[in-house]
Amino acid sequence: MLKNFIWIISVWTPLFIYGQNPLWIPDTLSGTNFNLTVQTGIVQFYAGQNTPTYGVNGNFLAPTLFLNKDDTVTLNVTNNLIFETTMHWHGLHVPPEFDGGPHQIISPGTTWSPTFRIMNNAGTYWYHPHGNGTTELHVTKGLAGIMIIRDPTEAALNLPRKYGVDDFPLILQTRCFDVLYQIAGFTHDDTVMMVNGTIDPTLQVPAQMVRLRVLNGSVDRTYQLGLSNDSTFYQIATDGGLIEQTNPINRLMVSPGERVEIILDLAGLQGQTINLMSYASELPAGIMGSANVSQGAATLPGYNSNPLNGNDFNILELEIVAPTPSPVTSIPAVLTTLNPLLEGTENMSRSFAFAPVMLGDMEMIEGPFTINGESFEMDSINVITYLNHTEIWELTNTTAVAHPFHIHDVQFFILDRNGLPVSAAESGQKDVVLVKPSESVRFITRFEDFHHATIPYMYHCHLLHHEDEGMMGSFIVLDSATLEVQQIMDESFTIFPNPASESINIHIPDGKYILSDLVLSNIQGQQLMVKRINSQTETLDISGLKEGIYFMTIRSSVNCQTKKIIIN
Ligand code: C2O
Ligand code: CU
Ligand code: CU
Repeated sequence: MLKNFIWIISVWTPLFIYGQNPLWIPDTLSGTNFNLTVQTGIVQFYAGQNTPTYGVNGNFLAPTLFLNKDDTVTLNVTNNLIFETTMHWHGLHVPPEFDGGPHQIISPGTTWSPTFRIMNNAGTYWYHPHGNGTTELHVTKGLAGIMIIRDPTEAALNLPRKYGVDDFPLILQTRCFDVLYQIAGFTHDDTVMMVNGTIDPTLQVPAQMVRLRVLNGSVDRTYQLGLSNDSTFYQIATDGGLIEQTNPINRLMVSPGERVEIILDLAGLQGQTINLMSYASELPAGIMGSANVSQGAATLPGYNSNPLNGNDFNILELEIVAPTPSPVTSIPAVLTTLNPLLEGTENMSRSFAFAPVMLGDMEMIEGPFTINGESFEMDSINVITYLNHTEIWELTNTTAVAHPFHIHDVQFFILDRNGLPVSAAESGQKDVVLVKPSESVRFITRFEDFHHATIPYMYHCHLLHHEDEGMMGSFIVLDSATLEVQQIMDESFTIFPNPASESINIHIPDGKYILSDLVLSNIQGQQLMVKRINSQTETLDISGLKEGIYFMTIRSSVNCQTKKIIIN
């Protein structure tokens, strides 16, 4: 009983009076050398109430970084928290050692300085911590920022791009405050809508073409964007930058991790007020934020009483004021050429099945969930792929909840949903795709430029609680061209005979790989055999395999060695 009592008083439900607070626009940093200090802060979201927060170079959230394509940049991330964190450049194509996943830990009091070339197209990306099991906590306490990449293609278009004037970043997040006005994690009572950390935000916008760069930085809520006057707006970009053609639309779904850029045509509307809304009543069941996400008895505590779930609500009030000098008044219909990868050019396809870890006969909507039966482990590699491989990944969701699937390193093109082509809204380069219950989504991508024998990239559900609960896997990209060199240099294990036809022996002289995994894969990266190493010499029966080139990999927690073998 007492427990119930605490539960009820710990939920703070705001009054829905919108447009009280000017939207906070994050400061900007530009150049090629960025200093980012992760720190604690205090913010008064509610008058007179101190809420402890985290921020980068400030109390809450993080500066917007302006980056130019082809610049080589250094990002000095100093961790002034009292525990470990990481910093991930979401959507950026960077070497795995600089990706900022759970393996690139920044200890308290230290600075991590990745350096890389900006290779992505102009667009809206973001950065946030990615610690093993701590992403939800760090993001919801305030660690999230926008990165805006510029490039000549985008610069040549007649588009609004004056930051804070006709081009605005919008970080959409919902949060839960407890009775002490602390930001609470691990709850679905996220009743407080914030844009850029502002509750009940209002923004003055000029009566002309205005660009909104929308990031869904929420823990698990999906938004169904629309305008309160139901007018058409114009989508120009997805996660990885411009789409080929301007997409006129009046609803746009954005799931956690995703970004969209939209243009509002506000010409002639001076003096009016319109709202950017989430028409959450229109969200299909199963999506976090819709009226109904449940399986049997596994309804979430607090889910149905959350007034944002399944109800339409305001995100941002737009007060339309006088136009600026030389406003953008029309936008191009054709934006860029993307040359999507085509089905038929792939080296291989892989399947990823999402499944719940059942509690008795119940599926818990908060997780844990597995991908291909596996849960994330820091020490293991789930997928081995090769440099310059084009692959189709098929994602199948047999759970009761929609999962926004995200992959690091690459951008992809969605081929289909349940065999049907996707709408223009998802036509461009993507790094997150929402996979709804009983859907199968296929995308095509190519692993280029970066490879590393031991340091993995991640793929995962971007519902942060699911990610933290292990709905994540790792992949490494190997360069098959350098494997022979490695074979000569690495004396830590030997394979004989090689070439072989009936069986092969793997000998580990010093026994250091005992209890590691031995993985035999083909040239396409498909794992054919996995064997736990229990003794200094292991034998594999390969008599059933076709002639050709294969790879033998030893995976341990600290190492991953691959050698080429020939079967004849
Ligand atoms: Cu936005 Cu792996 O993360
Ligand atoms: Cu990412
Ligand atoms: Cu999920």
